[in-house]
Amino acid sequence: MNLDYDPFSPEFRRDPYSVYEELRRSAPVYWAERSKTWVVSRYDDVAGILKDTRRFSSDAMATVLTGSTRPQPGASMPAGSPRPSLVTSDPPVHTGLRNILNRGFTPRQISAWKPAVERAVSESIDSIRAARRFDVIAQLAIPVPVIVIAQVLGVEPERYPDFKRWATVITVGMNGSKRHLGFVGSGAAAASAEMSEYLRGTIARRTAEDGHDLISVLVRASEGEVLTPDEAIIFANLLLFAGTETTANLIGNAAYALLTHPEVLARVHAAPDLIPATIEETLRWDPPVHYLFRRATEPVEIAGIAIPKDAIVTVLLGSANRDETAFGSDAAVFNIDRKNQVPHIAFGFGIRFCLGAALARMEATTSLQQLVPVLASARRVTEQLEFVDSFQFRGLASLEMEWRC
Ligand code: HEM
Repeated sequence: MNLDYDPFSPEFRRDPYSVYEELRRSAPVYWAERSKTWVVSRYDDVAGILKDTRRFSSDAMATVLTGSTRPQPGASMPAGSPRPSLVTSDPPVHTGLRNILNRGFTPRQISAWKPAVERAVSESIDSIRAARRFDVIAQLAIPVPVIVIAQVLGVEPERYPDFKRWATVITVGMNGSKRHLGFVGSGAAAASAEMSEYLRGTIARRTAEDGHDLISVLVRASEGEVLTPDEAIIFANLLLFAGTETTANLIGNAAYALLTHPEVLARVHAAPDLIPATIEETLRWDPPVHYLFRRATEPVEIAGIAIPKDAIVTVLLGSANRDETAFGSDAAVFNIDRKNQVPHIAFGFGIRFCLGAALARMEATTSLQQLVPVLASARRVTEQLEFVDSFQFRGLASLEMEWRC
């Protein structure tokens, strides 16, 4: 095989995993000319980079997740500026922000959101049951996480469609097909500004009121160290797609994995307590987020390859999760019974392990509890696959089905 890592090609989008396998085998640290980054594909190297926050900075994530321009390495911010987004900051700024934000994601807080998740899933399943043909992605996987994040942020229901629109425009502009048009040209900047303006008004009210939504908890002074209004807006922007596109892909990828493994679907249908194992195996086997970026803060060596200071490294979560040395010679097989010796890294690793992992797992579990009986009684309308318009996120754009007669 001629090794050609091109995440922008349609062939790669259809099957990134065979390219990953080749990368792990023959070029585990690979210079990708198109993206001008070093691509790291083996589990141990990926986990090692994610753990080493001193030598690998997350400021490289700025262009990926927030759409902002990456600051010059080592540049200092003017006094009084908001702290950068959680996902782009390094310790000690990251530590301070994470301490505040953890307050909003306690197990108690997550279980308080469960009724909202159950309601959102039930409404979606009702719409699916009412139709002869339905789309699992459009009617369940996409709306559930958007409605949940909107509720978590305390957004009024009539603004939910705006939230979905902002999330899509920003994703397509930042790491999808309009990426070449830039943040402004793609419309992502305008969508982000529109959302920020809306949030600014609601945050001003929250600071004064005694609300229980996430933003109220994070901006209320009586709770200890707080986010400034600007920081709360940056965080809400991050949640919009850290928590929607990702979870939608998890639900969709799990549904697709079950449909393409009918024997597993039959088992899970008969024994719904297998749903959590199905979700964990989906996260490993077909994860929603395929790569992250880091910047080398000093010259480093990875697997014997010298990486210069300030080089950008692409860490392939999607490949690490299929590494045979970590998950065994059957790593390419979807197997909900596997006993992993190491954790999958679909939610990242170390100090910035996904803040919303428990919420995502709860949303996916609740969705599959109601979706599995549907999948078992319906069939796909077409075998053709259309993927979401993103190079970083992996998921289906639609999964159309119809009831069996
Ligand atoms: C299946 C769904 C999800 C997946 C696969 C996922 C994946 C990830 C990954 C890989 C990271 C690490 C980023 C890095 O190291 O640079 C991360 C971080 C993060 N995730 Fe998630 N995520 C999911 C759902 C959510 C949800 C539902 C929320 C919030 C409601 C959320 C909020 C965050 C935040 C705030 C961070 C930054 C943590 C930090 O830097 O300390 N995610 N996520």
